[in-house]
Amino acid sequence: MAEFTLPANSKIKGGRKIPSPEPGGTMRKFKVYRYDPDSGENPRYDTFEVNLDECGPMVLDALIKIKSEQDSSLTFRRSCREGICGSCSMNIDGKNGLACTTAIEDVKGEVKITPLPAMDVIKDLVPDFTHFYAQYASIQPWLKTVTPPPAGKERLQSPEDRAKLDGLYECILCACCSTSCPSYWWNADKFLGPAILLQAYRWLADSRDEMTGERLDSLEDPFRLYRCHTIMNCANTCPKGLNPAKAIAEIKKMEVERVV
Ligand code: SF4
Ligand code: SF4
Ligand code: FES
Repeated sequence: MAEFTLPANSKIKGGRKIPSPEPGGTMRKFKVYRYDPDSGENPRYDTFEVNLDECGPMVLDALIKIKSEQDSSLTFRRSCREGICGSCSMNIDGKNGLACTTAIEDVKGEVKITPLPAMDVIKDLVPDFTHFYAQYASIQPWLKTVTPPPAGKERLQSPEDRAKLDGLYECILCACCSTSCPSYWWNADKFLGPAILLQAYRWLADSRDEMTGERLDSLEDPFRLYRCHTIMNCANTCPKGLNPAKAIAEIKKMEVERVV
């Protein structure tokens, strides 16, 4: 049997001998969209080379390394680094996703990174979420009731009713779905888009909410709800594995059922 010999410069770590990286390391190119509205220059791409042997495994790790070591002006959002805050959403290799949960090794060749499509860009990879958040506020995303809660008690929910919120409450409002939806690209001024409609359904599905009729009235509109044509990009894109198209279909069903 052939004998395996570790390179002479290998290190001992945790009692195990770890092979040192090849000289020069495993280099990957990252082609990153750049835009600074204050510069007066047109948008461009910058290409950075990153040694993956000295970098964490995710696309966000590479962006942080580039910003720390090569170009401190590179601008992007991030916070939790574990797919919870939704702030690092961007387009990676042609698909919307979270930089912190997208593995570099899952992208073949040069890693091309652009901001989420069809949104104004504030700087580099940072899109302007102002309109998206205004649409979110418009669906009044909080529990609305008319009856007082039971004296001295909270409003309870059965385990079955609570389970109806599964697949909805996990949404992190990253906008990956809305910005991959062709209907939202063309009608974002009036169509609420998959993310906000999934959130709207989250409150319609909540057994404790007492404003179902009013919520359905506000959605009953040719544009706010009915611009969804079931293209399903939203469900294919969601990094949390949610299905906004299904939530939209449920809202449409509720609209129909209340008039028959
Ligand atoms: S299913 Fe509806 S919301 Fe989802 S991408 Fe298609 S048109 Fe957009
Ligand atoms: S449904 Fe998924 S893709 Fe859309 S905003 Fe929520 S977490 Fe993001
Ligand atoms: S940094 Fe929070 S979801 Fe990526």
